[in-house]
Amino acid sequence: MNIYLDNCSTTKPREEVIEEIIYALREEYGNPSSLHKMGFNVEKKIEEIRNNIASFLEVNKDEIYFTSGGTESNNMAIQSIINKHNRIGKHIITTKIEHPSVLNVLKDYEEKGYDITYLKVNDKGLISLDQLKRSIREDTILIAIMHVNNEIGAIQPIWEIKKVLKGKNSRALIHVDGVQGFGKVHIDPKGWGVDTYSFSGHKIHGPKGIGGLYINKEIKLNPIIFGGNQERGFRSGTENVPGIMGLGKAVEIMEKNFEKEQNQVNGIKSYFIKRLGEEIDHIHINSPMNHKSSPYILNVSFEYVRGEVLLHYLEDKGIYVSTSSACSSRGTEKSHVLLALGLSNRMIEGAIRFCFSYENTKEDIDYTIEILKKSVEEIRQITMR
Ligand SMILES: Cc1ncc(COP(=O)(O)O)c(C=O)c1O
Repeated sequence: MNIYLDNCSTTKPREEVIEEIIYALREEYGNPSSLHKMGFNVEKKIEEIRNNIASFLEVNKDEIYFTSGGTESNNMAIQSIINKHNRIGKHIITTKIEHPSVLNVLKDYEEKGYDITYLKVNDKGLISLDQLKRSIREDTILIAIMHVNNEIGAIQPIWEIKKVLKGKNSRALIHVDGVQGFGKVHIDPKGWGVDTYSFSGHKIHGPKGIGGLYINKEIKLNPIIFGGNQERGFRSGTENVPGIMGLGKAVEIMEKNFEKEQNQVNGIKSYFIKRLGEEIDHIHINSPMNHKSSPYILNVSFEYVRGEVLLHYLEDKGIYVSTSSACSSRGTEKSHVLLALGLSNRMIEGAIRFCFSYENTKEDIDYTIEILKKSVEEIRQITMR
């Protein structure tokens, strides 16, 4: 039996996505830049997919750029914004709980002399809009804040940032890492006044190595990758056609099932929390409750247990979870997100992240709780001896 509860690290591609990728590799192998019919047909396909993704995001087709995924989109947005506005100022605002694809690029700029303000979060991982307002300066050029946190699921009030900026008369641009929100919770990048927004295919049951970036067409950024001028000159390099077609299929199905799957996952998460509370003591829920958290993510600390040990007990029984984010570490370092929440070492060491998908059933949760209960009891008996 395999119960996959690590859907924040990556998701299982849908069958239709796999079929679409195979079809793309087999049949649609023309280069979209070629002048002949084979190239033209592929180009047409790519443009249809761009159009569908734009319509899902409620933005214009020419505001979507394909990239190799969330990491590249975050890097491109941040670096292009800095390149464009470095004459206006060198101050950037972000949060302490961003993904490494944001934090590490900003760290690099910090070393080059940029001034970075890292907003604190409360014990549920939420920023304070007051602190944001106080942090904005005349030389602030960029505010980079993630929508949904990948370790605890906290949803930041992105829709308020533009209002705060207007109140301060600031021209700073807003970048949102949307990787864990895209296809999972309500999003409206243009309506919220976001300038750049990144997303990734493999978090929504699509392929790895493909994603995209929304760039508000009013802001006109310059590229950081140069070459054959693909993606309207912003991101050169022959297009990842199987990836784009797989992503297109994943978005098409996700859009159709969005509400149904979100409700289903919401039910699974609530049931999981209820059963956890009934069956296991000395636990602490690190994710915010209800609408302040993604229905897809739940972070729990099991006191007197080491997360890695519990992860392997569960794995032995076919249940797959994470201790912290799969892409930030191999689980050996303390999570910067849990540290920012102010959790004690004991709570951080005992933290496990459960990430759900539409494939999880109530029976999966019952089995997981049963194994969790046994494993936690066994580990505690050994460690508390
Ligand atoms: C919040 C967040 N941003 C960015 C990324 C990076 O995305 P990708 O794996 O597509 O590079 C991830 C991946 O885990 C993520 O969770």
